[in-house]
Amino acid sequence: MGRIEGIYPKIGVASGEVLISHREFGPPEIIGNPANTGARLADMAEGGEILCDSNTYSFVKFKFEFMEKGEVKLKGMKKKVSVFSLIDRRKGILRKRSFGGEGFPFVDREKELFLLKKFVEDVFTEEIGKVVFLLGDAGIGKSRLVEEVYSQALGYSLENMKQFQWYEGKCNRGIDTVAFQPFIEIIRGFIGEWIDGDPEKIRGAITRYMDDTEDTDMIMHILGFGKRRVGISEASEKGKIFNALLQFIYGISLMHPTVFVIDDLYSADTSTLEFLEYMSGRLNRFPFLMIILSRIDKNLPFWRVKENMKSLLGSTLVEIYLKKLHEEDALKLIDIMKGKENIPENVIKRAVELSHGNPLYLEEFIRYYIERQSGRETDIPPTIRGLIDSRIDSLDPGTKEVLEEASVIGYRVDREILGMITDHFDDLNAHIRKLVNASILSDVSEGKTENLYFYHPLYREVAYKRMLSRHKKRLHKKIAQTIEEHFSSRIHEFYEELARHYKNADEKDKAVKYSILAGEKLEKNYASQEAIKFYRDALEICEDRSKTYELLLRIAHLERLSGNGNKALSYLEECERICENTEEKIKVYTSAGTTYESMSRYDEALTYYKKSLSTGKEIDFRLKIPAYLGIAWVYYIRGKYDEVENAIMKIKGFLETAKNPDEIDKQHLARAYNILASTYNSTGRHEFAFQLYTGALKIYRSLGDEAGISTIHNNLSGIFSGIGD
Ligand SMILES: Nc1ncnc2c1ncn2[C@@H]1O[C@H](COP(=O)(O)OP(=O)(O)OP(=O)(O)O)[C@@H](O)[C@H]1O
Ligand SMILES: [Mg+2]
Repeated sequence: MGRIEGIYPKIGVASGEVLISHREFGPPEIIGNPANTGARLADMAEGGEILCDSNTYSFVKFKFEFMEKGEVKLKGMKKKVSVFSLIDRRKGILRKRSFGGEGFPFVDREKELFLLKKFVEDVFTEEIGKVVFLLGDAGIGKSRLVEEVYSQALGYSLENMKQFQWYEGKCNRGIDTVAFQPFIEIIRGFIGEWIDGDPEKIRGAITRYMDDTEDTDMIMHILGFGKRRVGISEASEKGKIFNALLQFIYGISLMHPTVFVIDDLYSADTSTLEFLEYMSGRLNRFPFLMIILSRIDKNLPFWRVKENMKSLLGSTLVEIYLKKLHEEDALKLIDIMKGKENIPENVIKRAVELSHGNPLYLEEFIRYYIERQSGRETDIPPTIRGLIDSRIDSLDPGTKEVLEEASVIGYRVDREILGMITDHFDDLNAHIRKLVNASILSDVSEGKTENLYFYHPLYREVAYKRMLSRHKKRLHKKIAQTIEEHFSSRIHEFYEELARHYKNADEKDKAVKYSILAGEKLEKNYASQEAIKFYRDALEICEDRSKTYELLLRIAHLERLSGNGNKALSYLEECERICENTEEKIKVYTSAGTTYESMSRYDEALTYYKKSLSTGKEIDFRLKIPAYLGIAWVYYIRGKYDEVENAIMKIKGFLETAKNPDEIDKQHLARAYNILASTYNSTGRHEFAFQLYTGALKIYRSLGDEAGISTIHNNLSGIFSGIGD
């Protein structure tokens, strides 16, 4: 940080969301916590000091070093604020980390490490080098992997008592546009101290390794100490600079085994890129290992340079794509990071899910949680949001809008639907290509159709959150209507999506309708828990009492089937509270009986079955059959066979006197046969048992009830073994 002699400004920086209200006259007014915090921090700073809050700190901590000043109570603010004082820009890639203390955690990546270790050994033993591109998403662990390679190299050199050299340079276009940025850092690393920036001393240091004065001039040029020479064409000047730089790094690497690391190539300046291409055309033998790290963005100039280098270098160039961490490794990492902190299971689950195997995101989620210890778990940590936001901001406006439209459709983006709702139909393909090139969307062919997916679920969330809610609502509605119109023949495939879109469009009736349809569809696929989610969504928005009753009963039923008896009971309690007639009550009590039965709490089961029977005497007998069946079954389990027969006889009696016995639920009838048959079987009356089982089997077959059929088959085989046949 340069300081101006005699002027010592006090600076405070705070980050967060603010409201800007534009006034007719005068500057706009900025309202919000960050504005106040910033002002207070500036008050508190010493002359020449820059103070910032923890938000700002987490945004820039990778680039700058800070001193922690601890928590401070600022005037007029309720909560204490953590304050950080800026020291300087960070140097090099190896940086301090807050997790893991001494030995930084490192998980997974065995294959990549193995390969890189081999390349390191090759420069040590055979002096054969390579150019390795390490490519991957932001935060996926490229720099961290290289730190690990560094310690491998260090280990190798200690074991073999061989000196080695390791130089790093980072591309940094975001901060300032300096030509040859990473190479400047590499040269600086080589000549050691920056020698107070005294050009004479620097020149002296360089001439120790370069005899040619013109080459030395050129290196001085790169370092920013050259003068533009008049009358010489830029092209020839450039050629000389490139040549000098190549001589320099080649020369260094002849002294000892050498590794050069160039980080963040995606943000490289043009000269750096041109030099790399030049180097690839000139060298046919690499005495050094050069590891180049970059995020993937095929729209940026570096990608073309990489492709050219590939064709020039052939097998000397190796590309390694760093993919997401395996789930077990992600969990292992969380375990190390959280240390003694107690983090609830659902937070961990969400962190793993949303981070999608990206260690940086994982780290930020956990850190964010630990720092707040509460709050909504759906929040995206501001650091992650900032990272992704800035990527989205770098897109041109049309592409950005297409991205936002896609984010409303969902994680999977149906191309056809996107085409129907976009405001950019004419150049849609070009926008999509840009998004795919930028690794924000990925193109996946599924059967005959090409579909788009978000490269990372967080990209979708951030893109979605950027939009104004009115705009989002409008898009959700448009998407839902488009689906209804154009896919009416296979609308069942879209129930889940329609439910979500109508819910977010605030169209309550349709949202409830499709949530229930989605739930029913999932139930048929035995996805009870997923079905429950949709029913609960419906419940949340539903304003109709009798529908609410049905939903509660349904959810209780599914929770019981999933073995969550207690949850089922609490839904039933809620359900009982809104009952309006005896018929509804009977169903709730019977369901409670069945739930207790499933929890092996037979006394309570009997109580509820009996409560069901004693409610509303005059009610249609068919409603009571399930309770009788429940009672019969509980008694059967307890071996009270007389009571079983009593209960079944009640049903039989009804069937004999009923006006229309055909209306009895066939399932119930089959179950009655089955229970009675099992009772007969247990009391040695195998003949009767056999007849009744066969009766039940017939019914199940006519219903196509596979589960019923197999139960009876089991029971029948029980009989045969019972009578030794
Ligand atoms: N294999 C790993 N084991 C443990 N932690 C890891 C691993 N990989 C990465 N991390 C952690 O995740 C964070 C992000 O990693 P890193 O900075 O290496 O990402 P990057 O790929 O270089 O991202 P960028 O493109 O932003 O430079 C770091 O804090 C790092 O310590
Ligand atoms: Mg990095």
